[in-house]
Amino acid sequence: MTNAFNTTNSQTVFTAAKELMPGGVSSPVRAFKSVNGDPIVFDRVKGPYAWDIDGNRFIDYVGSWGPAICGHSHPEVIASLQEALEKGTSFGAPCELENKLSEMVIEAVPSVEMVRFVNSGTEACMAVLRLMRAFTGRDKLIKFEGCYHGHADMFLVKAGSGVATLGLPDSPGVPRSTTSNTLTAPYNDLEAVKELFAENPDAISGVILEPIVGNAGFITPEPGFLEGLRELTKENGALLVFDEVMTGFRISYGGAQERFGVTPDLTTMGKVIGGGLPVGAYGGKKEIMSMVAPSGPVYQAGTLSGNPLAMTAGIKTLEILRQEGSYERLENMTKKLINGICDSAKQAGIPITGSSVSGMFGFYLCEGPVRNFEEAKKANTDYFGKLHRAMLEKGVYLAPSAFEAGFTSLAHSEDDIDITLQAFNECFNELSQ
Ligand SMILES: Cc1ncc(COP(=O)(O)O)c(C=O)c1O
Repeated sequence: MTNAFNTTNSQTVFTAAKELMPGGVSSPVRAFKSVNGDPIVFDRVKGPYAWDIDGNRFIDYVGSWGPAICGHSHPEVIASLQEALEKGTSFGAPCELENKLSEMVIEAVPSVEMVRFVNSGTEACMAVLRLMRAFTGRDKLIKFEGCYHGHADMFLVKAGSGVATLGLPDSPGVPRSTTSNTLTAPYNDLEAVKELFAENPDAISGVILEPIVGNAGFITPEPGFLEGLRELTKENGALLVFDEVMTGFRISYGGAQERFGVTPDLTTMGKVIGGGLPVGAYGGKKEIMSMVAPSGPVYQAGTLSGNPLAMTAGIKTLEILRQEGSYERLENMTKKLINGICDSAKQAGIPITGSSVSGMFGFYLCEGPVRNFEEAKKANTDYFGKLHRAMLEKGVYLAPSAFEAGFTSLAHSEDDIDITLQAFNECFNELSQ
């Protein structure tokens, strides 16, 4: 792999793509800008591996940004999709598979008594926000710096725009009037949330967060943080919403809420529940979900929502995941991986802090601890860019940003982990010289 690393075909396709699509991609992080490189163009994926159009094979720790928890193109998922395909790709009418996946989600996720399927995590978060406001009759919302909830206007607020100040748009085209209702606080800072509630009495509809942050690297909630948010929201008549688009069915079968034993009012999901096809979902207490159209007045709809292919891939993926030992395997493998990465870096004299929970991990190239986005920004992103490239050359595909979590899958073998650790070890030594 190392000797023949050649990306000529990827370069050619990406050069053409830049004329056809903004930045040459359909979603920004893929463009490798934050690692100062050009993207690898994929040809196919299978199990823990991805192959590019130059014939290079990579051990993949992105897993299509989370969905590929059973490994890419799992044979059982593919077989059930082939069967479903024969019956058609989209019905635009009720199908029994929606009931089946709903039942599985309701059974698994503690907060969910009723669910609505959509097509992406962005859609789920956008819809949940409307529901939060409708249910409480309040417009404001608290989110945390470094948490990502998709690209709807209300969530695109500048990180660090101030605890006590109004949110500022983080993208042209987002009206100031929209983000003025979005209040931000540093992650793991209950006092800041308390202050926001005190300063905005009876105005805050709820608090939304990633129960483990995977969009600012990898940040876990400190003991008491999630519990504290549960109490604060209750005291203030606001809703608590866990965005489990990334953590749902990954951190445990019942998501982060099951693992940490804190039950939100509403939950958003995506990625894993679509098994590699576009799916999002939001769900929660019946009392709240009943407000969604057509049973209630809160409008939300989707042409392709609940389509039989997406439902099939989701159902099969969850069936595989709920087999005995899946999460223990993910937990142990991922721990071995992150511990090995951190040990190698330290031995090479490179500052690092990293951790994992179940099949999700991350590290920062700086001294720890990292408890919020501000602290995450201390990480050495230049070095990460070089490390990323060097790892690619050794056949390991990491997320192309110092601020994205990594994902393992049930398809990664002990050998894959060992080969990856060997590559990290070599890179840390080579790059530190
Ligand atoms: C926590 C979280 N919420 C929402 C989203 C948006 O999901 P999508 O990309 O499917 O729109 C993401 C995407 O990475 C996410 O990680």
